[in-house]
Amino acid sequence: MLILGIETSCDDTSAAVVEDGKIIRSNIIASQDALHLRFGGVVPEIACRAHLDSIIPVINSALTDAGVNLKDLDAIAATNTPGLIGALLIGLTAAKSIAWVLDVPLVAVNHLHGHIYASHLEHENIQYPVVSLIVSGGHTTLFLTQGVTNHALLGGTIDDAAGEAFDKVAKLLELGYPGGPYIDNVARTGNPDAVPFPRAYIEKDSLDFSFSGLKTSVLYHCYGKDMQTHRRFSTQDVADLAASFQEAVIDVLIDKTLLALEKNKAKGIIIGGGVAANSRLRYKLQEAASARSVPFYYPSLRLCTDNAAMVAGLAYHKYLKKDFASLDVEAIP
Ligand code: KG4
Ligand code: ZN
Repeated sequence: MLILGIETSCDDTSAAVVEDGKIIRSNIIASQDALHLRFGGVVPEIACRAHLDSIIPVINSALTDAGVNLKDLDAIAATNTPGLIGALLIGLTAAKSIAWVLDVPLVAVNHLHGHIYASHLEHENIQYPVVSLIVSGGHTTLFLTQGVTNHALLGGTIDDAAGEAFDKVAKLLELGYPGGPYIDNVARTGNPDAVPFPRAYIEKDSLDFSFSGLKTSVLYHCYGKDMQTHRRFSTQDVADLAASFQEAVIDVLIDKTLLALEKNKAKGIIIGGGVAANSRLRYKLQEAASARSVPFYYPSLRLCTDNAAMVAGLAYHKYLKKDFASLDVEAIP
């Protein structure tokens, strides 16, 4: 079965053709990083315009790359929630139009469930339940995953997302955009214990996250509490700062994931989303999982960040359950 997936929830325009929920026949991603770079974050209006320009060429490339024609498709899938409303609407409307013209089912996919599915594209025989940690530019969420399409919310961020904190701190340290990969890279030569940044656990046993206090701590460290001092940092200072900030984020992500694992007697851990590409998070979570003898499933780097292969892949399982969307299904931010 061939499904065309479309993903436009944030700042990547992506289309993919996936066979039987597993074989990625194509996965085209048009990144908008260059457009948002000078703003240091995603500007929704710019994102929408860029999606409009790219959506048709990206879909055409996905079909050409996969070597399929529109008439070969069995269903069309698109992300309909959560995300930027204008951005979601562009991909969803394209999917509705194609599904209507071809008279094939439309499948609506939750973006976060898509990120969880990314690991399913590359791992066989996942034993449920597993704890799924989705960490991206817009989300930091823990789920208890009982099956490919069955995810119960355990907790989430009450303010900033982990990726947003990475992006803002990278901007502060003038490292580049999007900040995550730059911090990841610079932190390799830094000391994670150099600056004792705070870890926000909220309440004992809470599975929610908070990163705004940490972000403010980094800001005060750079400018002083009066915001007047612009301290000068050597290359090593920047590496130490990046490593210390990264460690503070990762410690909390890992501790809460392990708490969720224990509380729910889960059999494994899945990570997904852009921050799941972080080398230190992958390394430390692998260590923690091995110490507890539970499997740790993570996607390859190209499937961590936003992509339509995860959308088309998950849609296959929704198709098998006849979980179709009507043509008036809404985009929900
Ligand atoms: O999943 P994604 O592509 O988009 C959203 O759904 O938000 O995630 C993008 C986020 C950005 O904040 C980016 O800085 C972060 O993922 N990111 C990383 C790394 N690679 C991307 N954060 C930390 N370390 C990385 N290696
Ligand atoms: Zn995402």
